[in-house]
Amino acid sequence: MARDTLSVTDNRTGATYEVPITDGTVRAIDFRQITAGDDDFGLMVYDPAFTNTASCRSAVTYIDGDRGILEYRGYPIEQLAEESTFLETAYLILYGELPTRQQFDEWTHNITFHTYVHESVKRFMESFQHDAHPMGMLVGTVAALSTFYPEAKAVDDPESREQQTWRLIAKMPTIAAFAYRHSLGLPYVYPDNDLSYPGNFLSMLWKMAEPKYRPDPVLERAVEVLFILHADHEQNCSTNAMRAVGSSRVDPFSATAAAAAALYGPLHGGANEAVIRMLTEIGDVKRVPEFIMRAKAGEGRLMGFGHRVYKSYDPRAKIIKQTADEVFEVTGRNPLLDIALELERIALQDDYFMKHKLYPNVDFYSGIIYQAMGFPVDMFPVLFAIPRTAGWLAQWREMVQDPEQKIARPRQVFVGPSRRDFAPMAKRNARRKSAA
Ligand code: CMC
Repeated sequence: MARDTLSVTDNRTGATYEVPITDGTVRAIDFRQITAGDDDFGLMVYDPAFTNTASCRSAVTYIDGDRGILEYRGYPIEQLAEESTFLETAYLILYGELPTRQQFDEWTHNITFHTYVHESVKRFMESFQHDAHPMGMLVGTVAALSTFYPEAKAVDDPESREQQTWRLIAKMPTIAAFAYRHSLGLPYVYPDNDLSYPGNFLSMLWKMAEPKYRPDPVLERAVEVLFILHADHEQNCSTNAMRAVGSSRVDPFSATAAAAAALYGPLHGGANEAVIRMLTEIGDVKRVPEFIMRAKAGEGRLMGFGHRVYKSYDPRAKIIKQTADEVFEVTGRNPLLDIALELERIALQDDYFMKHKLYPNVDFYSGIIYQAMGFPVDMFPVLFAIPRTAGWLAQWREMVQDPEQKIARPRQVFVGPSRRDFAPMAKRNARRKSAA
């Protein structure tokens, strides 16, 4: 009868070990018992960039990368994007179930109640350079929030966790909008708690002299859908940062700042910014084939293409493509769309991209929508960070309550010099090349 174990024979010693298999995984620590001698530390598994290592058990988000499936708590992303709101989806991600009417009203109240930031936070933001990148402002300001709420250190207290969750989800749009207004030299706009979560965000961004800002319903819904699509994506780079930093039991504001910093990079949340720069550089549909040739020759990547997990079309990219059409009805068509469509058309027929299973990811079209709506490219990663905060917090809450989790601390394979004695400077070889 088949057993759920793996038999491993160490050819150095001839010994055989039996390692349990649970949920399609073996535990790396089970390999430590495999030693080649008494002074051998034991076998480790080597996995740079965690390409085949599960670091946690999680019930939040399910992805089947080969079939292009994304589900939050079992609900398909397509249904949530069609029927839910961001706040409802955030509740689902955080608490595991869709809220009842009463739960939703309480949740909405708790979020809207915390949208304001301390005036000192505002003054703190005012001191950034006029041309500061809004993502740098966001990262710095979110970290600074920990100094306003020292009680957030009580990460094992469920009530404290709850309160910091409300604060972070509520204040992210406020900080993001303040960063945007700062870059334009415009006065910051305070939250309008009559509006929806995305509607209030648009008001804080774009309200001018009018007594009440009324968001365009199409753009408000588009932001809602984009927020739903970006709310979580299981163990990606920034979520891994949230969990790793949070595993030191630091407060969630500091951990969220670390996660946002991870999101800032061009291979992660900065990719939509990189897509717009790439499309602008291509400049004309006629130049697309040449650009693809260059990407295939290794002279730069096709930004917005490829994914560590999806080896088929990213389901979020499909939904965004539909949303783009609705947005362009209001804003007018973004001329970069034609270049993007041509790039996608050629790449999807190209041997290199087919062989490497490279398809458009969520960032390929999101930047085109954001740009049509009037956002400068610097704001794109900020727009990603707002909804992803719900996912970071859900994953962080899961982590701090998981009895199996400890401080995240990988091992290494040491490849440096073996022990040697210190040489005084005068005795060092003058011609020795300086270490890089
Ligand atoms: N253009 C051209 N070639 C690519 C691309 C691309 N965008 N992505 C991967 N490849 C090639 C890569 O050169 C490698 O080829 P080979 O095996 O011949 O050396 C192969 O595909 C595998 O690439 P990899 O870098 O080992 O794959 P990865 O899983 O480490 O990287 C990725 C995933 C998303 C970082 C990468 O596909 C990439 O850099 N894409 C462009 C940036 C991007 O769009 N990022 C957004 C990701 S989705 C949203 C998010 O996570 O924030």
